[in-house]
Amino acid sequence: MLILENNGVFILETENTHYVMAVDCTGVLGHEHWGRKCADVNDYKSTYTSWDKNSNHSARDYGKTEYIPYGGTCYRTPALVVTYADKCREAQLLYKDFEVTFENEDTFLLEIILEDKHYGLEASLFYRLREGTDVIERFVKLRNKSENVITLNKVASGEFNLPSLRPYSSTNFNGSWAAEFYREDTAVKNGVLTYENRKGGSNHTHNPVFILSQNATEDEGDVFFGALAWSGNYKVEIARDFTGRTRAVIGINDFDFSYTLKPGEEFDAPSVYCGYTKGFSEMSNQMNAYAVEHILPKSFNKASLPVLYNSWEATFFDVSCEGQQKLAELAADIGCELFVMDDGWFGERKDDWAGLGDWYVNKVKFPNGLKPLIDKVKSLGMRFGLWFEPEMVNPDSDLFRTHPEWAYHYDTRDADLLRHQLVLNLTKPEVQEFVFRVMDDMLCEYDISYIKWDMNRAYSQTGGENLENPQELWYRHVKAVYEIADRLKEKHPGLQLECCASGGGRVDYGALSHFDMVWTSDNTDPIDRLEIQHGFSLLYPIKCMRAWVTDTNRRSRPRDFDYRFNVTMQGSLSIGGNLLKYNEEELELHRRYIALYKEIRETVQFGRLYRLADFENDHLYANQYVKDNQSVLFLCKSVNTFFNEKFYHVRLKGLDGLARYTVKYDNKEENYGGDYLMNVGLGFEMGGTLESKIIVLEKE
Ligand code: GLA
Repeated sequence: MLILENNGVFILETENTHYVMAVDCTGVLGHEHWGRKCADVNDYKSTYTSWDKNSNHSARDYGKTEYIPYGGTCYRTPALVVTYADKCREAQLLYKDFEVTFENEDTFLLEIILEDKHYGLEASLFYRLREGTDVIERFVKLRNKSENVITLNKVASGEFNLPSLRPYSSTNFNGSWAAEFYREDTAVKNGVLTYENRKGGSNHTHNPVFILSQNATEDEGDVFFGALAWSGNYKVEIARDFTGRTRAVIGINDFDFSYTLKPGEEFDAPSVYCGYTKGFSEMSNQMNAYAVEHILPKSFNKASLPVLYNSWEATFFDVSCEGQQKLAELAADIGCELFVMDDGWFGERKDDWAGLGDWYVNKVKFPNGLKPLIDKVKSLGMRFGLWFEPEMVNPDSDLFRTHPEWAYHYDTRDADLLRHQLVLNLTKPEVQEFVFRVMDDMLCEYDISYIKWDMNRAYSQTGGENLENPQELWYRHVKAVYEIADRLKEKHPGLQLECCASGGGRVDYGALSHFDMVWTSDNTDPIDRLEIQHGFSLLYPIKCMRAWVTDTNRRSRPRDFDYRFNVTMQGSLSIGGNLLKYNEEELELHRRYIALYKEIRETVQFGRLYRLADFENDHLYANQYVKDNQSVLFLCKSVNTFFNEKFYHVRLKGLDGLARYTVKYDNKEENYGGDYLMNVGLGFEMGGTLESKIIVLEKE
């Protein structure tokens, strides 16, 4: 890890990569290189040539820039768009200065300051480098050093230039509610490919990331990626221009956005974590390790997550003290460590038509409050967690009857409800205070160590009549969510937060900087989950991926519990079925798998993940996790036919070639050398029907 500056050339050296910028002869910060290292760093220089090719293609069209504003003769997708008080809408950012800060023994921060001198606008580009990783954290700070207001119309977190002129393949997701993270690879041949969200949260369809690759497999090929730490409207623009250059601009969405930067004020654009790796596997493993070490909230980042029971699919809104106590008894009996009561416990919440906003315990369902339930849960040796959807209100609630003006609305429009609810205007300080207080009150009154924070609808009528500049609303709402989460954690240090938005509608590194984990998807069908979990694993940390074993589709698409556990144990194992309906044999199966999970969870939650099948062995998902002396291999057949029996040969990865391993599966034990397992592999006959296996390897 090294930061070098040599006459306006900045070289960032990570474990395996160089990221190079150079101030060009016009004072613009150019981009020179991102990718493999060069032995002699003295070769790096500004390559900008200041000749306009003709009256239609200026010199700027041919150069690579690090953070280009809209202005001058540069017309490509800009990173920054501003309007000055005199109506000038072009910015010119020229190099001013730089500073390197040694933050601690393995972290350097480079700040490059650019300025638009005439208008007193400063843009600091930050690059944080950490020892032992190729991931670079980039972020941007804007400062108004003038006497006038500056309107920000677009502030991206980064512009990224890719080295090759050949088309890249862009990987993102093409999902929807209950079908998050469905991976889609698109060739970027020309024009602009945009992934964005305008709904308020980050969303189920795409994700605020770019992954651009060439000839990439799990282990080979060039992979460039960036993941935005933002849980609101975002925009990822990937453009290949007429010169064949590919660029990505990623940041807060400029759709319906502007921000008024008053004299002396600053604006922080969220971080983007970026890197270059050889193959997708290295990308996933670098981000997994980096997130655990540097992004997740510090309170639990290194702790493995408990096996939890969640009541939603068992009882839906029909919760009661006695019913939950009975579930808790069985949950504890099978080995759960945390009992989370989901929706239905508050206000007049009989279904999803009423109650959101009334965060007091329903007296009919819990005549003596939550204490009897929590006492029971604790006496069974588990901790207790509770569901909230704090940003929302049902029109049928005391809160709405008292404060209709707290919901986003236009007086001139009928309320447009989704799931019979409205979104609270979290940009109002009194609403922020209310949201904090209702959860804080419950945490103070009861022994609650876990909150599942849900958010189940897209925003609308985002008028923001309370704001001087209503277009700041989208940004301010997200900031308020983060602030409330942080305040709760600060006041209640033992509190774990799960981030949910109708499943995986808010999975991003912004959420994961404030919440300990996410609810991946409302879809708990294990076959669908294979695809969802594959997509999630590309850039997000495995330990944060909550996964439930449930009864979903047990009748329409039968999957036995072995299969369900096999899929679910590849993340943070949780149980969500109605245990009261299970027979002793099924409960015993739960006991056995939960006990096994506890033996392997360090490896799953913190190990390296190898996606072995790489789609070469059709219809088989083969994921291997490796940590220290243990490795776990999960095999899941993903088609259901009696006729497609196959003999699969699975070559493992990441083992110690010279060591011997005890290989345990199907109630038998075998013994192989690491090299044999990696070069020859393990052979399995697997029937056409949905078979699955969990194979545990222990290094001798
Ligand atoms: C959302 C969540 C579910 C559950 C319900 C409760 O759909 O994703 O897990 O909590 O809300 O209403």
